[in-house]
Amino acid sequence: MLFVTGKGGVGKTTFASALAQLSAASGKRTLVVEMDDKGALAHALHTEGVQFAEREIAPNLFAMAMNTEDSLREYIRLFVKNPLVSTFGPLAKILDFVANAAPGVKEILAVGKLCWEVRERNYDIVIVDAEATGHIVAQVDAPAILSNLVQVGVIRDQTRWMQDILHDQSATGVVVVTTPEEIPVLETIQLLDTLQSKTKVSVSAVVANRVHPDVVAGGDLAVFAGLVSSVESGMMASEPASVLRGPLRLLSIATQRRKREVGLLEQLATNAKQRGVLFMSILEIDEQEAGITSVMSSVLKDELS
Ligand SMILES: Nc1ncnc2c1ncn2[C@@H]1O[C@H](COP(=O)(O)OP(=O)(O)O)[C@@H](O)[C@H]1O
Ligand SMILES: [Mg+2]
Repeated sequence: MLFVTGKGGVGKTTFASALAQLSAASGKRTLVVEMDDKGALAHALHTEGVQFAEREIAPNLFAMAMNTEDSLREYIRLFVKNPLVSTFGPLAKILDFVANAAPGVKEILAVGKLCWEVRERNYDIVIVDAEATGHIVAQVDAPAILSNLVQVGVIRDQTRWMQDILHDQSATGVVVVTTPEEIPVLETIQLLDTLQSKTKVSVSAVVANRVHPDVVAGGDLAVFAGLVSSVESGMMASEPASVLRGPLRLLSIATQRRKREVGLLEQLATNAKQRGVLFMSILEIDEQEAGITSVMSSVLKDELS
């Protein structure tokens, strides 16, 4: 089970979808789950109607959207053999009541459903388009937090098997996606630190998404600098100089940006330690041909093979 997290907008949904497509295409029975139910996953996968009930949207590729109320309903059906439950009244009300009384209940219902799918081995891999950076720790750590609060009885038993799955490095990992920009990189570094120091959930990968290509590099840098200085100093004839001035300015902005990016990526790599960083370049898409998810999926295939 892989939790794909990162700051909003960095490419979590796209990456989770691309990975799921790749995994399904390689013959693995794959479940991809949207945690915040905003419909972005369906969009990224060019499908519609992703709901709590899993649906096969392509060969080997199943998709679902998390919904804690449906998860509670399923939990009661599976585990609570008490016919009195049906007299409880509307579940949404009970859920709100319990969730307000005990922090972590909604997270448990969500993460519990995922762990259940893993435990029942219905899938070879479960890919989670997870909560953003600020909420992921509460999510993956919910069973541990609750078991610290309540150390007896059914809650302890229920949280234990979930923790066994979440804390098993060979079963569960977090993938942190970032773009090579200051704030997302800083948040990523903090998250790596928090996951390591406060939880027992391991980090499987760090992905730098939307990385720009080198604009001017290596030996070309000197040529570029020479061109800039002859244009700026008036050494070049005024006609080619006036034509070149605009493009050179753009190149110089792109080069500066790339330089900052490289610095941030180095900082990221230092903090990712032995895990390393997987680079995903900024992708150009031709809407007619294929959506961004399938483009990313084929880039990933080459990258990982
Ligand atoms: N490598 C990439 N190159 C170009 N555009 C990308 C790339 N990755 C993601 N995008 C685009 O960036 C936007 C945000 O991506 P999304 O996956 O929805 O982010 P998140 O789920 O983290 O909010 C989308 O429009 C997506 O198509
Ligand atoms: Mg998203």
